[in-house]
Amino acid sequence: MAKSPSFSCSACGNVTTKWAGRCEACGEWNTISEDAGISKGPAKSLGARRGSSVVLTDLSTEEAPPPRTCSGIEELDRVLGGGLVPASATLVGGDPGIGKSTILLQAASSFARNGLKTIYVSGEEASAQVRMRAQRLGLADAPVKLAAETNLRDILTTLEAEKPQLAIIDSIQTMWADNVESAPGSVSQVRAAAHELTSFAKRKGISVVLVGHVTKDGQIAGPRVVEHMVDTVLYFEGERGHQFRILRAVKNRFGPADEIGVFEMTGKGLAEVPNPSALFLSERGEPSPGSVVFAGVEGTRPVLLEFQALVAPSPHAQARRTVVGWDGGRLAMILAVLEARCGIPFAGLDVYLNVAGGMKVSEPAADLAVAAALLSAREDAALPADTVVFGEISLSGALRPASQTENRLKEAQKLGFTAAIAPSGGKTARGSGLTLNTMSDLTGFVGEIFGAG
Ligand code: TYD
Ligand code: MG
Repeated sequence: MAKSPSFSCSACGNVTTKWAGRCEACGEWNTISEDAGISKGPAKSLGARRGSSVVLTDLSTEEAPPPRTCSGIEELDRVLGGGLVPASATLVGGDPGIGKSTILLQAASSFARNGLKTIYVSGEEASAQVRMRAQRLGLADAPVKLAAETNLRDILTTLEAEKPQLAIIDSIQTMWADNVESAPGSVSQVRAAAHELTSFAKRKGISVVLVGHVTKDGQIAGPRVVEHMVDTVLYFEGERGHQFRILRAVKNRFGPADEIGVFEMTGKGLAEVPNPSALFLSERGEPSPGSVVFAGVEGTRPVLLEFQALVAPSPHAQARRTVVGWDGGRLAMILAVLEARCGIPFAGLDVYLNVAGGMKVSEPAADLAVAAALLSAREDAALPADTVVFGEISLSGALRPASQTENRLKEAQKLGFTAAIAPSGGKTARGSGLTLNTMSDLTGFVGEIFGAG
């Protein structure tokens, strides 16, 4: 019987039985294409060979995997959850040109210098080009093996022969399995290559790092297609116009997710930014209306960020709401709560909201900072420059305490802030030295800070 065709989306990997112009799972257009079958080697019938299992308590500590290896690049080690886990699979995704190859070459060199047998397989550049880059980064003397390959069979043979402890595959979209009919970069190829590489690595005890380009083109599969196959998913973010880059753990089987590492792109590669708050606030000038400093937390680390709002009468029939670095839906919610619970309307006003420096914030604790920025812009009244704000706003207008209050306050104090506005009821931080101004609802906040609004 002929096998019915299957189609998959190159953006999210969703599989369907019929073609459509738009993926029903992720909503992207023109990303669906037919999967090519695997032509060689008939599938063996299931149950032909017996598997084996082991009782959890039987795993003695001697059999436990060897400890993690640190690269010495602290921002990277933290995002990995405290170093690289042996025989793990990691995906590093990001826009083309964001710096994935750069950071991984630096990481490869550091791991190799720390005694890990490392191989860097490039499917995009010739070995000489990788070497040139390494020279420019001052890493030419690191004992990293280089290979320029795209054929999966050749790569597996190389790995078998070299027996490295860490293999970096740059990038998964250039890899090509000769038993899959479709072109390199297609969903079937990317899936097959990622599956082969990760299962081979687990079997042989090799850690693999796969690089995946985030693509806008529907013909090439994005990194989301292989997210479920790996242990750790890191995304490299950042605006092209800004110097700094953020490595964010979105999934981590061996450590906390949402952890971030901050880097700065320099002429000599990516440099670590050990104190990101200072960097994010560095462009802040005199206190101005619409500017509010948010004491946030990214993963386990507190980070101070500046929210900037602009509120102006709208020339359009429908007022504009533009957000950069935060969630548009969440902004609409805050505007609605301000209107319904505090009687402060934003109808007929254009609202622009921006997180300075190009950072993306997803924490609900940013609500109060956003509300403060919006009100400050609307009332044309600046908040005191030495004050940080944080707290979640509920639909009733009540303020909910945020997690890690103490960490937030400590970070604020470290950067010279003297006061904080926060929801009441949170764990009161002792010994932070900051003047803590706590409130239980948004109406109280508006009254106290902006004189009844
Ligand atoms: P790259 O690591 O090649 O990006 P990706 O692998 O994610 O596609 O980074 C390329 C960009 O980084 C390029 O625009 C130049 C810049 N860059 C520097 O600014 N300094 C450097 O030392 C290096 C190596 C790259
Ligand atoms: Mg690259």
